[in-house]
Amino acid sequence: MLIAQVTDIHLGFEPDSPGEFNRQRLDRVLDELAAMTPRPDLLLATGDLIDRGDRESYDRLREAFAGLPFPVHYALGNHDVRATFSQAFPEIALDGGFLQYVVEAGPLRLIVLDTLEEGRHGGAFCEARAAWLQARLDEAPAVPTLIVQHHPPFEAGIAWMNTDPAEPWVERLAQCLRGRSNVIGLVCGHIHRSITAVWEGTPVATCPSTAPQVALDLRPIDPDVPDERNLIIADPPGYALHWYNGRQLVTHWDTAEDHQVLARYDANLQSMIQHMLSERPGP
Ligand SMILES: [Fe+2]
Ligand SMILES: [Fe+2]
Repeated sequence: MLIAQVTDIHLGFEPDSPGEFNRQRLDRVLDELAAMTPRPDLLLATGDLIDRGDRESYDRLREAFAGLPFPVHYALGNHDVRATFSQAFPEIALDGGFLQYVVEAGPLRLIVLDTLEEGRHGGAFCEARAAWLQARLDEAPAVPTLIVQHHPPFEAGIAWMNTDPAEPWVERLAQCLRGRSNVIGLVCGHIHRSITAVWEGTPVATCPSTAPQVALDLRPIDPDVPDERNLIIADPPGYALHWYNGRQLVTHWDTAEDHQVLARYDANLQSMIQHMLSERPGP
């Protein structure tokens, strides 16, 4: 089972520019994923799908994802607008007013959560959403389950993008997941970097963005003193590949760019490969 993930696409950052930088970056990633062997079984697009909540950008998003050789499942981020998303994707139903749903994906059950509170940058997860999640988890307590959402529930350490562990939504989500040994992980976005942490006993992987990345800077930040630190950097567009091997979820991150290859599997290196494989127990 191979699950691809893209996040933080931010289409429409350059208004009225269909060929904008963020679209070029997205297309590069989607081209790579579509051509990949083995092919991903599905693609998660985990929020900040567009930048300013406008219908035109959602239409362009739809066009960008059309024709992919695997299904796409969307989550919403803080830059998204539910009503406008729903107009552009009328076939995707809201549940209780939120974009939250279950995907039965072979051996895995995916639960996509909605952590958007319109007007707020950080995450949200209200009592209604918590009750919905508890009910979904109660339906299949033994099936390996992956939680999918935009906002990371852990403190990433990048001060201006942080989730504060004291935010009430974090504890509400934690309460839902405590004692659920079938929850094998949580995948998210929002920080525009590859980050992993174990939060409340659950492995969490944050996918790099297709849009420009956030600079790595772990210093505290003073809202009264702009200190010229780097905030956004044009590092290559990234994606995640989550491989479920029947035992655990293994997350790989990569960038869609022309990698500089230093060694290939040719006759010169065949004996090295043979030696490495011969050490393994085999079937
Ligand atoms: Fe974002
Ligand atoms: Fe975000």
